[in-house]
Amino acid sequence: MNQTLDIISKRHSTRTFIDRPVTEDDLNKMLEAANQAPSAHNQQSWKFIVIKGQKKTELADLITSRSHSFPRASAALLRMAARSIVSAPVVIAVANSGELIEHGSKLFQLEDTRVKDFFRTMEIQSSSAAVENLLIAATSMGISTVWLGIMFLIKDEVLEFLGEPKGEFMAIICAGYPEKESSSPKKRPFNVLVKRLE
Ligand SMILES: Cc1cc2nc3c(=O)[nH]c(=O)nc-3n(C[C@H](O)[C@H](O)[C@H](O)COP(=O)(O)O)c2cc1C
Repeated sequence: MNQTLDIISKRHSTRTFIDRPVTEDDLNKMLEAANQAPSAHNQQSWKFIVIKGQKKTELADLITSRSHSFPRASAALLRMAARSIVSAPVVIAVANSGELIEHGSKLFQLEDTRVKDFFRTMEIQSSSAAVENLLIAATSMGISTVWLGIMFLIKDEVLEFLGEPKGEFMAIICAGYPEKESSSPKKRPFNVLVKRLE
């Protein structure tokens, strides 16, 4: 296996972290890798918001307090996410800027709702590629991560908190060093998910 494939196979989600900081240098390498991702029209319509210290506590408090208004299963996931945020030394939020939607609408001169849906999807896909790059880069440096999506349930408040009220919520990533070693849950073998047309 080459080094890249080895790193990809080692990436797994970690939800509890030890009290050890991620260096600014490593954090910048992760962000740079994210920014290297392919993006529709090379628009790079993503924003990375780095959250540490008091702001991290405030974000976790916001999520916990809002969890009470959800049914038990989603409330539990929101509280679990808040705990991961508290324990991680650094949290990176990803929001779409809407720049591609704006740019694409002008460029393609298509009917408004269709073009919005198209470019919104392209923004989401581009940012997903950036998030995955970030996770893989972190793994390559011995840093563990988890991609949290559950905050989509309270996306408007989260975006407000992030200072991106006009953006679109994409992901919150916790990064740090794991409390204990773990691995991914079992994956379905890829060949059952592949259809070949020849
Ligand atoms: C779009 C997306 C959203 C996710 N949201 C959450 C989440 O809200 N909470 C959580 O604990 N894990 C979340 N995960 C992590 C998945 O649970 C995890 O990737 C999956 O169980 C496979 O495990 P692995 O990452 O260790 O391979 C999310 C992953 C993705 C790609």
